[in-house]
Amino acid sequence: MIALASDHVGLSLKNEIKTLLDEMGLAYCDYGADSAERVDYPIYGARAARAVASGRCERGIICCGTGVGISLAANKVRGIRCVVCSDCYSAMLSRQHNDTNMLSMGSRVVGTELGRMIARIWLTTEFEGGRHQRRVDQIAALERGEAIE
Ligand code: RB5
Repeated sequence: MIALASDHVGLSLKNEIKTLLDEMGLAYCDYGADSAERVDYPIYGARAARAVASGRCERGIICCGTGVGISLAANKVRGIRCVVCSDCYSAMLSRQHNDTNMLSMGSRVVGTELGRMIARIWLTTEFEGGRHQRRVDQIAALERGEAIE
């Protein structure tokens, strides 16, 4: 299950991602927003992030104007590693090396085709583990307020 969320600006890109997920046969749950009415992106980023952090959803894709604000909110939820992405290389490496569990994109930054391509790559790329696992563990330790050196 993929958690989806956006603010009013990211709504159009989120809808494109829904079409992609339908094509890929992946189920999703949309945590809003669902209209052009102006809303606050932290509320929606947090909803999707909590769904991922709790295990209700395996991963999440979120959108706002830049992808930045909503990703900042998502990354405040413990256990979330959300990448803001506008290129395919970072999308792939954020999975292989960082085990990102959320992807954020900006509807004012990426067009429909690039957004779909980024999401497809991010959804289909696996974490490599190995030496990268130690670094992901260090990030989790930081989140718990622990020393890592
Ligand atoms: C809303 O105007 C805009 O600030 C929001 O969509 C996003 O870009 C924030 O980072």
